[in-house]
Order: sequence, then C-alpha cells, then structure tokens
Amino acid sequence: MESLNLTTKILVYSFEEATENIKKLINEAKIATQSAYAPYSNFYVGAAVLLANGEIITGSNQENAAYPSGLCAERVTVFHANAQYPDVAVEALAIAACHDGEFTINPCSPCGGCRQVLLEAENRYNRPMKVILYGESKIYELECAKSLLPVGFGKDSLFD
Ligand code: THU
Repeated sequence: MESLNLTTKILVYSFEEATENIKKLINEAKIATQSAYAPYSNFYVGAAVLLANGEIITGSNQENAAYPSGLCAERVTVFHANAQYPDVAVEALAIAACHDGEFTINPCSPCGGCRQVLLEAENRYNRPMKVILYGESKIYELECAKSLLPVGFGKDSLFD
C-alpha cells in the first residue's frame, strides 16, 4: 500500500505586509461586502477578482427566502467575470466577510461548493488563480485554487 501525503502552502501575513496589488484587491473585496444581500444570515461577504486583462470584477453573496437559491460571493463574482470575459483568465481572487459591522478576525474561507467552482475557473484557463483570504488579524494566501481542493472532481474525471 502506498500513501499520498499532500501538503498545502499558505502564506500568512498582515495587511501592511501585502503588496500594493493585493491590498487593492482586498480593499475591493471589503467594499463589495456593502453590496451583499444577506438579510437571513447577516453575514456579508465580498469578493474581488483580478483578470489577466487587468480588470477587477467584484461581487457579493445574494441570499433568498428560499435559502438554497442564494449564492455565495465567490460564485457570483467568478461567474460574472467569466460571463463578461469568457476568454480572460482569473489571476487572483480576494475574499472578505463582515458581520455585526466588523470584518472577521480570521480569514474567511470559501465553502466547498465555491472551491469546486474556483477549481473549474482555474483549470479552464490553465492558469493558477491566487486565492487571498482576508481576516483582520491575518491574511492567508494560497498559490492556486487547486490547493483549496486537492483530489477534486474535474473535467478529466468525467472522461476517465
Ligand atoms: N458565504 C459566502 O458568500 N462565501 C463564503 O465563502 C462562505 C459563505 C455566504 C453564504 C451565505 O449567504 C452566508 O455567507 C452565510 O453562510
């Protein structure tokens, strides 16, 4: 029997230590929390993606009285970016979340369903998507979406 030992590299740093480009993307994600429609959870999530053409697209979670019909900020943002620019890769994604008027202390991490969507958006363009998770106390940076979902299901799994 063999064992596969997978490791995930996560850079941990403060906002002050971030590069100017990453600070900008985080700030856009923080601003995007203000457009969230979250009357049920009161958890306001904002996301910002940097596209390979330099454009930044933002989005936020959109809830619904029929709870499962709502959508997370990451999916709203990535689907919108891909729909507007189907031929342009997503180079980086930043996420921030706010509740009770404060940004979360710890980095806000994407749910399982969003990880699946981020992985597809990364594979589609064959380019790594940097993932930046904002928290007031620290920031996590992952070098690609795959590191959020190792051994994930993808296009290749369908045709194996
Ligand atoms: N949510 C996101 O938008 N992104 C995440 O990464 C985690 C959760 C939303 C879904 C729902 O509207 C609210 O946050 C509470 O789960």
